[in-house]
Amino acid sequence: MSRITTTDIRDMKAAGRKSVMVTAYDYPSARLVDAAGVDMILVGDTLGMVVLGYDSTLPVTMDDMIHHTKAVVRGSQRALVVGDMPFGSYQAGWQDAMKNAARFMQETGCGAVKLEGGRRSAETVSKLVDAGIPMMGHIGLTPQSVNQFGGFKVQGKTPAAAVQLMHDAQALEQAGAFAIVLELVPAPLAALLTERLSIPTIGIGAGPECDGQVQVFHDMLGLFEAFSPKHAKRYADAGETIRDAVAKYADEVRCGAFPTAKESFKMDPAALEELRPTPQSAIRRRHALGLDA
Ligand code: KIV
Repeated sequence: MSRITTTDIRDMKAAGRKSVMVTAYDYPSARLVDAAGVDMILVGDTLGMVVLGYDSTLPVTMDDMIHHTKAVVRGSQRALVVGDMPFGSYQAGWQDAMKNAARFMQETGCGAVKLEGGRRSAETVSKLVDAGIPMMGHIGLTPQSVNQFGGFKVQGKTPAAAVQLMHDAQALEQAGAFAIVLELVPAPLAALLTERLSIPTIGIGAGPECDGQVQVFHDMLGLFEAFSPKHAKRYADAGETIRDAVAKYADEVRCGAFPTAKESFKMDPAALEELRPTPQSAIRRRHALGLDA
């Protein structure tokens, strides 16, 4: 089975077809979302929060990202896998970004790389695209700058802020990004950006008019109960299902209902008999221990 490419994602916009992206951070979740038929899997640095338990994405390292992205590539066959550049891996300049993005592509086999920022990241995007690395942009609320934004707030609400976002989106398009994530952007502004750009917009909290949508796996499946963002729709309560199942297992172990013969393995009774001490071997053993002296 051949993988979806960045060209396919761009062609979907041209054909008026929505693209579907979801995050995954390990082998089993990658297998599940790939089998469900998503077009793109984002190994997002959100893994810092929903998998590693940090309170922001800032502590996530390149080594963390490489480790998880490798597992996702192994677990998927069809979806385009996009690796997320973590905080500190590209902000110092395009040379640094080049080294880290090349590591992503070489060590994990992912098909594209994403970084945050509009105009400030455009030169980096352009250099990396020139080097043959497919790049996805990310503007609006960019979580790595959450301290600068003063929290997870909707961006581009005033005319001046909306114009800045327009410039950011255009800069990324000109730099050669194949798609742009719009995070926490008012729906009408996201619709306008989607209309103006030739490359696909992938929304998260950016309304229904984007060319595609991305959701965080743990949010949509009820696996991250600490916090539920307004933009996330819960499609299942897997957290509750897992908790109930594990509680049932604990009960059954404690009352002896698990395991049963069904989950156990047999042994040849003759082999077992050989392990039991015969009167002869018991005598030899007592003798060896000096008990009969
Ligand atoms: O890291 C991530 O999961 C993301 C999405 C929220 C778009 O960047």
